[in-house]
Amino acid sequence: MQKPQQYRHKEIKKNSKRNKKRIKTPKTTIKMPNDYKVSVRLKKDLIRGLGKHSHHRAAVKMLPTFVRATPDGTEKGDYLALDLGGTNFRVLYVRVVEEQQKVVKMDSKICSIPQEMMLGTGEQLFDHIAQCLGEFLESQDLKGQTLPLGFTFSFPCEQKEIDKSILIRWTKGFSCSGVEGQDVVKLLKEAIHRRGDYDIGSVAMVNDTVGTMMSCGYRDQSCEIGMIIGTGTNACYMEEIKNVKRVEGEDGRMCINTEWGGFGDDGSLKDILTEFDEVVDQTSINPGVHTFEKMISGMYLGEIVRLLLVKMAEDKLLFKGETSEALLTPGQFETKYISEIEDGLENAQKILTALGLNWDPVDACVVRLVCDTISSRSARLCAAALATISNRIRVNRGLDHLKTTVGVDGTVYRKHPNFSEELQAAVRLLAPKCDITFLVSEDGSGKGAAMVTAVAQRIWLPGCMLSFIFLPIFVYI
Ligand code: BGC
Repeated sequence: MQKPQQYRHKEIKKNSKRNKKRIKTPKTTIKMPNDYKVSVRLKKDLIRGLGKHSHHRAAVKMLPTFVRATPDGTEKGDYLALDLGGTNFRVLYVRVVEEQQKVVKMDSKICSIPQEMMLGTGEQLFDHIAQCLGEFLESQDLKGQTLPLGFTFSFPCEQKEIDKSILIRWTKGFSCSGVEGQDVVKLLKEAIHRRGDYDIGSVAMVNDTVGTMMSCGYRDQSCEIGMIIGTGTNACYMEEIKNVKRVEGEDGRMCINTEWGGFGDDGSLKDILTEFDEVVDQTSINPGVHTFEKMISGMYLGEIVRLLLVKMAEDKLLFKGETSEALLTPGQFETKYISEIEDGLENAQKILTALGLNWDPVDACVVRLVCDTISSRSARLCAAALATISNRIRVNRGLDHLKTTVGVDGTVYRKHPNFSEELQAAVRLLAPKCDITFLVSEDGSGKGAAMVTAVAQRIWLPGCMLSFIFLPIFVYI
């Protein structure tokens, strides 16, 4: 990738800003990573993940999704959608209305997933999902119908067919036994059959990034990238099939779930990891896994800030050298505090008081600066990754200039006061030849999953075969 002149110029400016942002403690310096270097490394990893023989050792998995087209606006019908990817599980009843080119949520239900269940057995988890779905169908008087179902399962899966999806590994605090290496659709169907009081129609498995891209694609047909920056982080995009070496075929495009959260798992980001990142990783339930995600996403940002504050207090740079029980407790500094603190000093003061800390006005300002450093790092890492993908799409198509749309979702992106601005500004510098529109998804994990199912149904209608989206021609290796 050629380093644009404009970028070099801005980089010098940014570096001087960054230098100011460095937070020095006697033994530690946190500095902003070199976004450009990160982008160049990811570019190589994307190619490795797509390769037939390099895929198995690639940190960035680049998983084929078999989604070969975005919506064309003729989709219609009633669908169920399930959404599992965080601490809540959702069931939705969705109607896709062709005339209005709209996806309408008829009703939905949220079931919480208790911590014990996230770490329990797969059977318990899927029984809970089946129960929640059963109660919802009962309440909607839908138990007698067998509606097609879109299942947003936001974990890395090797998709064999649209309704066959093998979990590679759990992320985001889940670790249910007996699910890794298994077909998730089979586990869901088995749980439903164990109950025996209702059934479901055909199932389409969807990653949340794909749902996000598809739900935005209904509004803007140039949406070819889906990105999530929430509890976890990830992106998908439309890749040329000829480059997806594990799938047969030369023509057309296929959506690839990058699973960029795994970037760095082979040690490629070692030089930009701080001691705080290392502690977060070591104390997580999946050490060594999803390195990039642990520097970026909502599940981890609060904990990085907490560890930094503890260190600074211990080094007598904050709170008169004192800590508090809450500050010393893992998980007590929530990621939402970062947004709140950056939103205003008054919030910072309230939060520090609630954490039982003996703060003065300078402490509050320093804490705010720490939050800003960590959230900026996250935004710029995401920007580097997104710029890599956009540049790749542009070069793939032999274009001098690419105009494209990214469908985005996730609490970090939506809720943080300046995360989206910072990310967009950094992408503009790193991908100056890409003109990117950011579209916040309207419930990609729910409505998007229904949309994927609707498009899947459309392509099986007689006469529509040529506009296929799902074609299970996976080359098993
Ligand atoms: C998962 C991805 C998911 C992302 C955002 C990651 O932990 O591996 O599949 O898309 O979180 O939810």
